[in-house]
Amino acid sequence: MKKYLYGIDFGTTNSALAIYNEETKEIHHTIILPSLIYFYQEPGTGGSPNYVVGEEAITAYLADDMKGRFIKSVKQILSRSSFTETRIQNKRYNASDLVAIILKELKARADQLIGYDCKKAVIGRPVFFDDDDTQKDTLAQTRLRKATEIAGFVDIRFQFEPIGAAFAYEKSLVKKENVLVADLGGGTTDFTYLVLDPEKAGSKNRKNDMIANGGIYIGGDSFDSAFMWEKGTPYFGKNTQYEATPGKVLTVPKSLFANICSWEQMNFFNSLRIRKDIEDYYYFSGRDPQFKNLITLIENNLGYSVFQSIEKTKITLTNTDSARFSYHQMGIKIDEEVALQNYEKIIAKDVDRIANYLDKFIVQNNIDIQDIDTLFLTGGTSMVNSVQKLFKSRLPHVSLNSGDNFKSVVKGLAYSGYLFED
Ligand SMILES: Nc1ncnc2c1ncn2[C@@H]1O[C@H](COP(=O)(O)OP(=O)(O)OP(=O)(O)O)[C@@H](O)[C@H]1O
Ligand SMILES: [Mg+2]
Repeated sequence: MKKYLYGIDFGTTNSALAIYNEETKEIHHTIILPSLIYFYQEPGTGGSPNYVVGEEAITAYLADDMKGRFIKSVKQILSRSSFTETRIQNKRYNASDLVAIILKELKARADQLIGYDCKKAVIGRPVFFDDDDTQKDTLAQTRLRKATEIAGFVDIRFQFEPIGAAFAYEKSLVKKENVLVADLGGGTTDFTYLVLDPEKAGSKNRKNDMIANGGIYIGGDSFDSAFMWEKGTPYFGKNTQYEATPGKVLTVPKSLFANICSWEQMNFFNSLRIRKDIEDYYYFSGRDPQFKNLITLIENNLGYSVFQSIEKTKITLTNTDSARFSYHQMGIKIDEEVALQNYEKIIAKDVDRIANYLDKFIVQNNIDIQDIDTLFLTGGTSMVNSVQKLFKSRLPHVSLNSGDNFKSVVKGLAYSGYLFED
């Protein structure tokens, strides 16, 4: 008897699967997996895969001296029409193939727990995969569907991630509420405004309860990129000067550093192509030691470890007024104290964009903020101080609630089984 369905939250940073028992109408188990893939430098032997996923990807990447291909934030390429495929050890992978690796791992772990090959899943998706471009959005959802099929699912429905979070919150309610949900993840910030009513939980027709959905392509990764740009890149030679033509002193192009600030670029940029330019700048800079760090970073694939230090600094700053940004690898030495105030300045542009989007969302959907009973904040980035301040300042009278920042979405996706009844 096939009594389970899976809710799957394929996230930029973390992916999750909730096993839902359709008979008891309860969640049986939840699995969380960091959305990371590590391809070993050496091809697999005897048909064994040459990659590992999740936490194991980090361990293998470090054990392998960071020599293979480390893939993070793969969700961000779903909407990129310019990304068609990447070659890893003579094998081609398109966006769906890469995503499917993560979904397959989640499915395998869950199937093992329930004892059969479950083919039914509600998959979460952000309200917008990218800023309001419908073509890109369709491309992303098509790719995600394909990945879900490659992973072995047949009966598939999509649900907006913030609606998932809302349904998880609904389980804790005893009375009807108008709720604004804000889900701030690694890649996107999504909003939904809806009427939650515990009496309607799980029922088929919820369409009239959904008042508005929206989202913006900003999340924790954007904060980490901004931090890398401000605090990291000077250690990799952003201000290096070179003199290729005698008497003409120039600063190295900033575009080189944009590559190391964004995961999407860092995952897939062809370092061989720019290697020669970089070697030339290095030579003509008189072998600037900071610029040498850029070469070390690219040649040794250190991106992920630098971003781990950046994330650590960010997380420390959620509880303290100051944190050390520290990185020591292969001759690169970074040791800098960062005050919370300074951090807040670095991410201010992104936080302002979220605030402006929220204002627009409220106005365009004719939401009277006096009608909002509760703000439900979820997602890892909802823990950042500036983000909390932003919501408190915009909605001072609204009571704030938050559940499990990493599981609310997936639980609510699993509670969305009503979608199969259509
Ligand atoms: N304690 C913390 N303080 C601040 N930020 C945190 C904390 N813990 C995690 N984060 C950040 O939260 C983000 C991950 O959150 P989450 O798992 O909700 O995202 P996701 O679901 O993978 O992404 P998305 O929903 O955008 O696809 C990362 O950017 C991470 O650095
Ligand atoms: Mg998420």
